[in-house]
Amino acid sequence: MIVRTTDARTIALTVNGRAVSATVEPRTHLADFLREDLNLTGAHLGCEHGVCGACTLLVDGEPARSCLTFAATCDDAEITTIEGLDDDEVTAELRAAFNREHALQCGFCTPGMLVAARDLALRLPDADERRIRVGLAGNLCRCTGYAGIVKAIQSVIAERRARGVAPGGAGGRGLGPVGARPSRARPTERARTPAGPERAAAAAAPAAFIQDFTPAHSFEQRFAVAFPPDEVFALFGKVEEVAACLPGAFVDAVPSPERVEGGIRVKVGPISAAFRGAAAITRDEASREGRILGAGADGRSAAQGEVRYRVAQGAEPGTSEVALAVGYTLKGPLAQFGRPGLVRDIAGRLTADFARNLEAKLAGRGDAGPTPAAAPSGLNPFRLVAGLLFGRLASWLTRVRGSRGASD
Ligand code: FES
Ligand code: FES
Repeated sequence: MIVRTTDARTIALTVNGRAVSATVEPRTHLADFLREDLNLTGAHLGCEHGVCGACTLLVDGEPARSCLTFAATCDDAEITTIEGLDDDEVTAELRAAFNREHALQCGFCTPGMLVAARDLALRLPDADERRIRVGLAGNLCRCTGYAGIVKAIQSVIAERRARGVAPGGAGGRGLGPVGARPSRARPTERARTPAGPERAAAAAAPAAFIQDFTPAHSFEQRFAVAFPPDEVFALFGKVEEVAACLPGAFVDAVPSPERVEGGIRVKVGPISAAFRGAAAITRDEASREGRILGAGADGRSAAQGEVRYRVAQGAEPGTSEVALAVGYTLKGPLAQFGRPGLVRDIAGRLTADFARNLEAKLAGRGDAGPTPAAAPSGLNPFRLVAGLLFGRLASWLTRVRGSRGASD
């Protein structure tokens, strides 16, 4: 029996052309909803972390990871699983080509692979092997070595172009996953996700843009700085210098004390984005508190967020403790990476980098200047991921040792 919490939400969507209405938990992923509630088991679950691509299906005609997409965000969406592509012309051509080129063995990756391949067959102008391989980078196959898969897709694209079928079958589409479709969103959502000229206007008035902002995710971080609170708080007031401490952040124009335009470059796995936007800044000297309220977009993903900070006296004289409360909402491809555990890990690493760079900047006001090692770096995904893996391995080992100790 499925127990629904009070947070359960009723959604109405179209699945393989059929209208579906269901009540789902906020935590239920689209893949689980399709497989367990609708008995559509074509989308396979491999990694459940957005890495293997086995769960790929179409959301509003675009490939999306159903293991990372919450069903609750699919209200009003059109979902097409591999079962819904039975009569699709391109998929039929791909199925025949996969057979011909021995492009599958166990078949576990095949539904996701076909959905990704169909997208490539529709979009790529020609059967360029390199572009096909790049396009397939998000779909892993443990059996075939990819040669047959690439050949199959190449042959379908070549045949279609030879028949005069132009690329761009998916052209004109908006990119982004479930719930990120401004054109399909509910009126309230539409108002929160402007595009084109509206977006420019929104950037010019960030406070108005995010008036009713309620973050989808939030977390808190604390860090210590080996400098007195007044000095640290004063540095927080210098937006350009603070931005230089945050990996990947940049400032576009000379900021005023109340407003800044700029952005941050983010890369998670195969998806990268450079969010550009504006933020409103408020500060209270007496309590040493501040708030940065911003919104930005990169054309594919959109972000809104706020950072509240408070600089307090640290444990030792002459030191500070900085408390950060961060709330944010991501829409678009990056929204697929919204798992709280992962976000918390990444935030922890970013905060550690930020604190280190902040301290270097404060120290750099003296004669010594910032050390090269501590100088602000870009958001380095490899270092970040390596750090995350190391951190998770360490905590796993600690748990294992703990449980061994307890059983001895
Ligand atoms: S199950 Fe691996 S990407 Fe979704
Ligand atoms: S055919 Fe087995 S994982 Fe691809």
